[in-house]
Amino acid sequence: MAVNRGKYIIELENVIAGYIVAPPKLRSIFKTKQIVLRDINFRVGTSERVAIVGRSGSGKSTLLKVILGILKPFSGRVLIHGHDIYRLPWRRRVELLRRIGYVPQDPFKSLNPVLKVKSILKEPLEACGFKGNVDEKIRLIVKLVGLPENVVDMYPEELSGGMRQRVLIARALISEPEVLILDEPTSALDVSIQAQVVNLINEIYERLKLSIITVTHDLAIAQYVADRVVVIDNGRIVEEGSLAEILNNPRSNFMKTVISSYPKLHKLE
Ligand SMILES: Nc1ncnc2c1ncn2[C@@H]1O[C@H](COP(=O)(O)OP(=O)(O)OP(=O)(O)O)[C@@H](O)[C@H]1O
Ligand SMILES: [Mg+2]
Repeated sequence: MAVNRGKYIIELENVIAGYIVAPPKLRSIFKTKQIVLRDINFRVGTSERVAIVGRSGSGKSTLLKVILGILKPFSGRVLIHGHDIYRLPWRRRVELLRRIGYVPQDPFKSLNPVLKVKSILKEPLEACGFKGNVDEKIRLIVKLVGLPENVVDMYPEELSGGMRQRVLIARALISEPEVLILDEPTSALDVSIQAQVVNLINEIYERLKLSIITVTHDLAIAQYVADRVVVIDNGRIVEEGSLAEILNNPRSNFMKTVISSYPKLHKLE
């Protein structure tokens, strides 16, 4: 497919999105739109590192679903390399979405328990019709994410939370995406493991220079893994800039409240 090598890989224009919900016990004619994202404008360029920050329920994972082609917005456009993915035929949409690697929110629920790591990593290669040496590709990606070679013969339940997270990152990277999206990559992990995962994300960036979108509710994590921070509150983008800019000059009531509750966050250089 012809790819528009424009400035941005991902662009969301005036996106309004949410869910169709039916009140319990009522018939389908009573279904209503629950708007979660309100007029989102968001762009990610080549090799950019962006953090999406917001409290629980603010719409972060919903925004990712829209970007990943699994939740069609009520209105607005979602472009990947300039192509409006929700207006493309299914096959072309899938082709474009392969440029995005995704690490879901919960490493304990997101791996198929009956598959060995080798099969888990093989799946995306088969899906994209990889023609090269599969075993070699798997060996390289396992090394890249800092797992031991013998992990390929293990089942998810034999792995620690940190190792599962590395397997998920390997699965997202193996088909060489241009963008890596991680949804709360550290929140399910012990504090001691969180720093390792943050370091791994940064090592991956240094090695591959791909674009990285990290969703987190933790400003400290955002500071380590992103150059630009986008703050979402109640489905709206309320702040955008470097973390230092946002902390030194907060515009939204949400951020002002966050800062006043954590005085030591203030005046970050
Ligand atoms: N499948 C769904 N159907 C209906 N409502 C949903 C669905 N998924 C999420 N929501 C609602 O949309 C809102 C935003 O949810 P979302 O998961 O995007 O938040 P989040 O910022 O990712 O939160 P968290 O930090 O807890 O992961 C919430 O009110 C949630 O209840
Ligand atoms: Mg979420």
